[in-house]
Amino acid sequence: MSDGGSSSEQARKIAEGLAYLTGFGNEHSSEAVPGALPHGRNSPQRAPLGLYAEQLSGSAFTEPRTHNRRSWLYRIRPSAAHPPFTRTDNGALRTAPFTETVPDPNRLRWNPLPDPAPDTDFLAGLWTVGGNGDATQRTGMAIHLYAANAPMTDRVFSDSDGELLIVPERGGLLLRTELGLLSARPGEMALIPRGVRFRVELLDEDARGYVCENYGQPFELPNLGPIGANGLAAARDFRAPVAAYEDIERPTEVVNKFCGNLWSATYDHSPLDVVAWHGTHTPYVYDMRRFNVIGSISFDHPDPSIFTVLTSPSDTPGLAGVDFVVFAPRWLVGEDTFRPPYFHRNVMSEYMGLIEGAYDAKAEGFVPGGGSLHNMMSAHGPDRETFDRASAAELKPQKIDDGLAFMFETRWPVTATAQAAGAEHLQRGYDDVWQGLERHFRA
Ligand SMILES: [Fe+2]
Repeated sequence: MSDGGSSSEQARKIAEGLAYLTGFGNEHSSEAVPGALPHGRNSPQRAPLGLYAEQLSGSAFTEPRTHNRRSWLYRIRPSAAHPPFTRTDNGALRTAPFTETVPDPNRLRWNPLPDPAPDTDFLAGLWTVGGNGDATQRTGMAIHLYAANAPMTDRVFSDSDGELLIVPERGGLLLRTELGLLSARPGEMALIPRGVRFRVELLDEDARGYVCENYGQPFELPNLGPIGANGLAAARDFRAPVAAYEDIERPTEVVNKFCGNLWSATYDHSPLDVVAWHGTHTPYVYDMRRFNVIGSISFDHPDPSIFTVLTSPSDTPGLAGVDFVVFAPRWLVGEDTFRPPYFHRNVMSEYMGLIEGAYDAKAEGFVPGGGSLHNMMSAHGPDRETFDRASAAELKPQKIDDGLAFMFETRWPVTATAQAAGAEHLQRGYDDVWQGLERHFRA
């Protein structure tokens, strides 16, 4: 590893001092230099301080206000000042449509990714598990893992195909984006909107985690219905960055993911040169421990949709392109109730990951950094050990507080990449966890 130690120490210091704007989907504004943000108009004849005005649209100009996303950026040089992009190696990144394997009705589970080679940064360390839809049609999603041990240096990444929901599992990240800096540690999630350029530095020796690349409608907070005006993720717990810019006249590689391929162009300056901005197309971070977990106080338990942090709606009401769901610490108090997640077959497809501890439906084998895929209509639920224990448990109030798991739940089946379907770390014999569920029937 090169200068991992000292650069991560520096990144940690920066992360500790970060300030944020709060709220979800707000029309935020921020300026790193007083007077940099124009008032009363977006594109004055001459922008303040000799800056260039540039709009970044995350939705069509004409989408309804509730879905409309755009930010105005006031920058040292316009993004347009670049040489041609040329194709570069896609590494282990893959994009929908996923056709390397056929969709598999079997339940699949993986151990964590092996440690990466030295000097692997976040972008080089992205490894695609699978996904669905079609990036060129802006439908569906991809599931990626990342494993990194070096900061991105003199290069930035932007994804034209979708927004990136990043879930760190090991090691913290410092995200330097066009709109400012954010940090995300295990237990937090970060979101980089479509098209926003960013660079990832490491707060620790190495970093590992999960990414949902959402090709569809941007994530939004779910409606609350009869829950009322409060509950689940609170809008004010989402944090957006304040403006921070780099004035660096040094070649910087911009890697752009476009319709599944990586393209590269070297700017003669850092494109993270936005001095002020305002708008709704912003990165954000959220601490999942802030999630207000709601459950039954009588019997049974609600469907896991009650744990939805964010949802990407589709054209059909109630049918998400993808939901981000978190299984956070909570009390179980249900009377005459089998309390772990029940056996079920689901028309939606479920990819689960584990950030820390254990998940209450699986006694073993589902480990932090690993993942499971239960595709459309596949039968799953508690393993035998969990079933036996929960069926015999004394039903006193019980705190589940030793784990943090999450799910990317999507309306379409997930097709694995060839590398995921044939991976060394794919657990052969996952079906065995449901073996030995004894026959108890007595007529
Ligand atoms: Fe499930």
